[in-house]
Amino acid sequence: MHLASVGSSKLCFLLSLAFCGLLLLLIPAFQPTPHQADLPPPRPHPRPARVGKRPANTPRNPGGLVVPLQEEGLTLGHNVSSVGQGRPRDTQTNREGGRAPIAGQRDLPNTRRRTDSHRGPAEGSLPGVRGVGFRSREPLEPKDIFLAVKTTRKYHKSRLELLLQTWVSRAREQTFIFTDGEDKELRKTGANIINTNCSAAHTRQALCCKMSVEYDKFIESQKKWFCHLDDDNYVVLPSLLVLLSSYHHSQDVYLGRPSLDHPIEAAERVKADGSASVKFWFATGGAGFCISRGLALKMSPWASLGNFISTAERIRLPDDCTVGYIIEALLEVSLTHTRLFHSHLENLTRLPSNTLLQQVTLSYGGFENRRNVVSIGGAFPLVEDPSRFKTVHCLLYPDTDWCPSKNQHH
Ligand SMILES: *[C@@H]1O[C@H](CO)[C@@H](O)[C@H](O)[C@H]1NC(C)=O
Ligand SMILES: *[C@@H]1O[C@H](CO)[C@@H](O)[C@H](O)[C@H]1NC(C)=O
Ligand SMILES: *[C@@H]1O[C@H](CO)[C@@H](O)[C@H](O)[C@H]1NC(C)=O
Repeated sequence: MHLASVGSSKLCFLLSLAFCGLLLLLIPAFQPTPHQADLPPPRPHPRPARVGKRPANTPRNPGGLVVPLQEEGLTLGHNVSSVGQGRPRDTQTNREGGRAPIAGQRDLPNTRRRTDSHRGPAEGSLPGVRGVGFRSREPLEPKDIFLAVKTTRKYHKSRLELLLQTWVSRAREQTFIFTDGEDKELRKTGANIINTNCSAAHTRQALCCKMSVEYDKFIESQKKWFCHLDDDNYVVLPSLLVLLSSYHHSQDVYLGRPSLDHPIEAAERVKADGSASVKFWFATGGAGFCISRGLALKMSPWASLGNFISTAERIRLPDDCTVGYIIEALLEVSLTHTRLFHSHLENLTRLPSNTLLQQVTLSYGGFENRRNVVSIGGAFPLVEDPSRFKTVHCLLYPDTDWCPSKNQHH
C-alpha cells in the first residue's frame, strides 16, 4: 500500500510538470526566435538546358549548350560561384582535334548562376592539385564516386596492371573492374573485380551487357556519382573531384566529351515506331563520362536489370550511344560537353603539357606504328613508360615508392 501511494503521488507530480511544460510551449514569448543569419543560404539548383529548348539560331554552336570558362587554368583554387563565367565558344575551339584552346577549360551548363567575375590563380601556372582552398557547397569526397573500369580478359595484363599500379592505387575502394573472365592473378591484387559473365567479344551486345552490369552495381553502391572509364584511361583524381564538386549529385548531370561535332541521329524505336528520327549528343565511352545519381535513377526504366540491353537492341547502337539516347532523347537532359576527358581517338600529342594534370582523363594508343601519347617529360623515358601514365602519376604523386624522384632523396 505504501509503495502504491508513493507511486501515485509521483505520477501526479509528473503530470503537473508535463502540464506546465505544455503551457510554456504555448506561450509564444518562450519560443526561440529564428536567427536568419545563422541559416545557410539557400542552395541554387541549376538545371541543365533542356534539349527541346535549345536556341534555334545557334548554327555555329549546334548544341547551344557549351559555355567555356574564361581562358585560364582549371579553376582548382577557384571560387565555385565564379565558375560559368565566359563567352560562347567559337567554331575554332569547337572542332575536334583543333588547337587545344584553353588550359584545362571547363564547360558548364549555361544555366548556372552567374556572379561577378573572379580571377583565380595565375594564368598558365600549374595549380597545385593538393591542398588547394577549393570551396564547394557540398564537400564531395573521393568515396562518393563510383569508378567503373570496363575491360576484357585479354587486357588484364597489358592494360589493367598499369592502371592498378597508377591511379587505381589511389582510389582502391571506389574503383570497380568490370571484366568477362575469371583471373586468379587479378583477384590477388585485392582490387574490386566484377565478373560480368558477359561475352568477351567486342560486339555491341557484349559491351551493352557490361554497361548494364555497371549501372546496376552503381545503383546498388549508393554512391553519388557514376563514372565509366575504359581500361586505357588515366583518371586524374583531384581534377575529377574538383569537376564533380561544382555540381550536385541530385541534379541531372551527364558530363563527357562528345565524340562528334554534331548530334547523332537515330530512328526513334523506343517512344515511337521508328518512322521518325531523333537527334541527340552522347559522350564517347573511350574518354570516360560521369552521371549524377539523380539522373542515373531516372534512367532506371531503360537501364536497370537488363533493360539497358533491350534499349540498345531497339535502337541498334553501341553502349555509349545508348546512354546518350536514354539521357538526351528519352529524359531530355542535355550532355554537358567537356574537353577535360580524352580518348585515344584524339591526337593526344597536341594536348599542352602544362595542362595535363588539370585534365580529368587521359589515354594512349598506337604503340605499334603511330604512337599517340601525351607529351610529357619527367620520371620515365618513353621506352620505360610508353603510355606516359607512370610519368603523369609521378608528377601527381611524387611520394609514390616507385617514382624516381623519391629514390633520389634517399
Ligand atoms: C566567392 O565569390 C562570392 C561572390 O563573388 C563572394 O561573396 C565570396 O566571398 C567568395 N568566396 C571566396 C572564398 O573567395
Ligand atoms: C557471374 O557468375 C558467377 C558464377 O555463377 C556469379 O557468382 C556472379 O555473381 C555472376 N556475375 C554477375 C555480375 O551476375
Ligand atoms: C598529331 O599531331 C602532331 C602535332 O600536330 C602531328 O605531328 C602528328 O602527325 C599527329 N598525329 C596524328 C596521328 O595525326
